[in-house]
Amino acid sequence: PPQVLEAETATFVVGCVVENNWPGYTGTGFANCDNTGGSGVEWTFTAQQAGSTNLTVRYANGGTTNRPAALAVNGTIVSTPVFGPTGAWSAWQTVTVQTPLNAGTNTVRLTATSATGPANLDSLTVGGDAGPPSGTD
Ligand code: GCU
Repeated sequence: PPQVLEAETATFVVGCVVENNWPGYTGTGFANCDNTGGSGVEWTFTAQQAGSTNLTVRYANGGTTNRPAALAVNGTIVSTPVFGPTGAWSAWQTVTVQTPLNAGTNTVRLTATSATGPANLDSLTVGGDAGPPSGTD
């Protein structure tokens, strides 16, 4: 089954805080990381077997500009997702990346590549379907 890893319990790379002032998050809140390049979070988890797997990031961007990021798996950047505006800070959408994982421990590090910082980050789902590309809850 898919593993849902919350952002608020991830390792914070730079200057993130846990907040819960915008509804619609899962778990107990979301990570609001600094609006600066390099800020973001890192998740560590165990995969039962090696293989190509969907990684789905759930985020909100209530601003008006794109927030580009780098997604590194086990230290290698495998994708550069762009967290576009979602219309409101309470409107959450997902971006899915398909990537190989190792059997055993893996890390997924998601960091901003511009001074905008990342979006507000809710969770990372490991495994499961991609879901609608711009679904809102
Ligand atoms: C607002 C919003 C925050 C968000 C921030 C941003 O301050 O309330 O949740 O993180 O904008 O621009 O990143």
